[in-house]
Amino acid sequence: MPLYRRPNGIDLPFSSEITPREVFESRRGFMRQLAVGAAGAGGLLELSTGDAWAQASGAQKLAAKANPAYVVMDKATPFKDATTYNNFYEFGTEKTDPAENAGTLKTRPWTIAIEGEVKKPLTLDIDSLLKLAPLEERIYRLRCVEGWSMVIPWIGYSLSALIKKVEPTGNAKYVEFTTLADNRQMPGLRAPVLEWPYIEGLRMDEAMHPLALLGFGMYGQVLPNQNGAPVRMVLPWKYGFKSAKSIVKIRFLKEQPRTAWNIAAAREYGFYSNVNPDVDHPRWSQATERRIGEDGFFTKKRKTLMFNGYNEVAPLYAGMDLKKFF
Ligand code: MTE
Repeated sequence: MPLYRRPNGIDLPFSSEITPREVFESRRGFMRQLAVGAAGAGGLLELSTGDAWAQASGAQKLAAKANPAYVVMDKATPFKDATTYNNFYEFGTEKTDPAENAGTLKTRPWTIAIEGEVKKPLTLDIDSLLKLAPLEERIYRLRCVEGWSMVIPWIGYSLSALIKKVEPTGNAKYVEFTTLADNRQMPGLRAPVLEWPYIEGLRMDEAMHPLALLGFGMYGQVLPNQNGAPVRMVLPWKYGFKSAKSIVKIRFLKEQPRTAWNIAAAREYGFYSNVNPDVDHPRWSQATERRIGEDGFFTKKRKTLMFNGYNEVAPLYAGMDLKKFF
């Protein structure tokens, strides 16, 4: 059942109807300015991510400090849109399927195994993983290969914090993320749309980049199931499909791992999949994007930026032909 539906089936009013949209948005902008200003002045301020819908959802709160180094000043996507327009094929292929079907996902107990080319392999329960490093709020853009994007206040910490704990060996050149594939909880697994489990991967230096976030929450709360609870990756310079949801295993490897979308259509989905307006998907252009929540007949599409605007990752790809390594 979507979060925004009352048991009687009557939709709750959208946040912009509770409070006039301008007031609501400017208040949120003001909170953000306050947070950034306070951080600049010294201490980090507890950030209240004021989305009335997020608050009305009644989900468990997750405290985090805003990290001003990772703030996009674009308006955050309304919580309602970010949680009802999803790709999570284990729960169905329609955008509304994950919100409707992911209620069956059991996120406790949940263990995650970290293994492969590491000196200190670890198996952690999710609550220990959550406490491994201080949680930060970071506002990232995420661009889907399908031509839409969102701006989401995520909660998590850099994946590098976890990687340092397990001490990768010199052989560790890649990291593989395996996600849950359980027929009892995931009705979408019946359809052979992808090879299950959904697997993604990164090169070691990409995984160590501070932008690579291990995410546990969004909008001040724990992740809704449809957004990849209880733990997912968030890689803002890559197309959304690289950000694996509901991770159960992280493995360090010598060789580049096989990944779900690359197995399904190698010509269309490369291993790197960095956002790149100059390299079109074989079936559609990547030059522009539609920001979810900004739709309207006259709304102009936004220009897609190289690396989704995260130019700090460019050195990772120096000397590589990004048309070849798409
Ligand atoms: N992870 C798993 N396990 N299964 C999926 O189908 N879809 C990917 C990615 N991670 C997917 C997944 C795609 S295509 C996108 S665009 C993002 O999740 C969407 O994340 P969001 O729904 O939180 O916006």
